[in-house]
Amino acid sequence: MKPFQLPPHLLMGSATSGAQIEGGDTNSNWYAWCEQGRIRDQTSCLRANDHWNRYSEDIELMTELNHRVYRMGVEWSRLEPIEGQFSKEAIKHYRKEISLMLEKGIKPLVTLHHFSHPIWLENQAGFEHPRVLSQFLRYVRFVVENLGDLVSEYITINEPNVYAVQGYYFGTWPPAKKNLRLVLKVMKHMALCHISAYRLIHEIRKEKGWPGQTMVGVANHLRVFDAYNKNNPLDRLAAGAMDYLFQNALTRTMADGILRPPFGVGAPLGKGRFMDFFGLNYYTRDGVRFKGFQNLVMPNTPRNDLGWEIYPKGLYRLCKLCYERYRVPVWITENGTCDEEDRFRSRYIYDHLLEISKLCSDGIPVERYYHWSLMDNFEWAEGESARFGLIHVDYDTQKRTIRPSGRFYGEICRNLEVTEEMIQTYLLGTISSQYPSGSSIK
Ligand code: BGC
Repeated sequence: MKPFQLPPHLLMGSATSGAQIEGGDTNSNWYAWCEQGRIRDQTSCLRANDHWNRYSEDIELMTELNHRVYRMGVEWSRLEPIEGQFSKEAIKHYRKEISLMLEKGIKPLVTLHHFSHPIWLENQAGFEHPRVLSQFLRYVRFVVENLGDLVSEYITINEPNVYAVQGYYFGTWPPAKKNLRLVLKVMKHMALCHISAYRLIHEIRKEKGWPGQTMVGVANHLRVFDAYNKNNPLDRLAAGAMDYLFQNALTRTMADGILRPPFGVGAPLGKGRFMDFFGLNYYTRDGVRFKGFQNLVMPNTPRNDLGWEIYPKGLYRLCKLCYERYRVPVWITENGTCDEEDRFRSRYIYDHLLEISKLCSDGIPVERYYHWSLMDNFEWAEGESARFGLIHVDYDTQKRTIRPSGRFYGEICRNLEVTEEMIQTYLLGTISSQYPSGSSIK
C-alpha cells in the first residue's frame, strides 16, 4: 500500500437520503410499508436516526470529518403531505438545516426523489401513471422556488432502475408488484419526470437570477456486468443484455431525451442534454450467466456483510466509460460498503479513492466523491441491521460514534491525500487492512 494524492479540484463529503435518516414521517409509502411488518429485522423508518431533530449535531459531525460537500434528500411526503397542500413548516425546517450547513462551508446537493414519496401518490398508482409527471413537477417547483436561493445543485431522481426493479419486478419494495410491463412504464415515466424537472430547475433559477451555477443530474445506479465465465460467448452476450436492460437504455434516455426499446421509442419531450454532471452510485459487480439469465457473485472475490463483491476497479471502468459516453464531469454520488464491525471499510475507502486518483491522472474529470454513508441508517428492506456508516449509530440512544474508518476518511478529506503515516495508523497492522474473502461474512 502506497501513499497517494487526490486532485485539488475534488470536493469530498458524504451522502444520505431523507427517509433513511430523518425519522418521524408518517406520510410516506415507506412508513406504510414498514407498518405492514415488511422489513427484515422488523425495524421502521419512523425511528431511523432522528436526524429531523438532531441535524445540528449531524452537521457538526460532518464538519469534524472535514466535509466540503454533502448530498441530502428532501422528503416529498413531508413537503406535500396532502395532495396540493404544501407544508410551510417543513420547507422552513429544510431552509434552517441547509443554512447551517452553508455557514459551516458545506455545499449541499439536494435529491428530490430517493425511493420514497407520499402515500397519496402511491394510492394513485405513483410512477405507473402518466399523471405523475405533473404531480412531480408541481412538487419540484415548490422545492426550487423555496430553496433555490440556497441550493444550486440537484439530483432529480435517485436510481430509477433500482426503484423500478425492486418495486415492480422482484416486488421486495413497495408497491410490491411483479409485472414486467409496469417496470417499463415506471422507468419511462421516471425518465420523463427527470427531463421535465431538469428544464424546470434551470428555468426557475435563471429567472430568479439566483447565485451559483445550476447543476442538475440523476444519481444513476450502475453495476459492472461481466460474463461469469469470460470464455463463454453466451455469458458475454447475457452480460451485455443485462447491462442494456438494467441500466444503459434508461441512462441514455435520461441524458438525451430519446426513449429506447424496450420502454419506448421517439423523443416525446424533445432531444437535448439533460445532465450537467454524471451522477454515479457504484457498489459492486455481477457475474452474468447465460444459463437461466442469472446474476451471480464472482467466485473467490472479497465480499461485504451483504455478500456484495468488493471490486474497486469497477469504479475506474464505469467512470471512464460514462465520461467517454456522456462527456460531462463525473460526480460519484454514492460509494461505500456494509461493514458492521468496521473490519474493512478503511481498506475499501483506500482502494476506491486510489482508483479516483488514477482516473484524474488519466484525464477523466471526477469532481466529487460522496461516501455512502455519513452514518448508519435505515437500509430499506434490511432495516437497521445493515450498516454503511462512517459513523456508528446506536438507535436506542441515538448516540453517534465516529468509526476508525470515519476518522481515516475525515483525514483524507482534510488534505486530499493518504500519507504513509495514515497507512500505518488506519490500515497496516490493524484488522482493517484485509477484506473478508470467499463468502459473505454473515
Ligand atoms: C441507495 C441507498 C442505499 C445504498 C446501499 C443505494 O442503492 O441509493 O439508498 O442505502 O444503495 O444499499
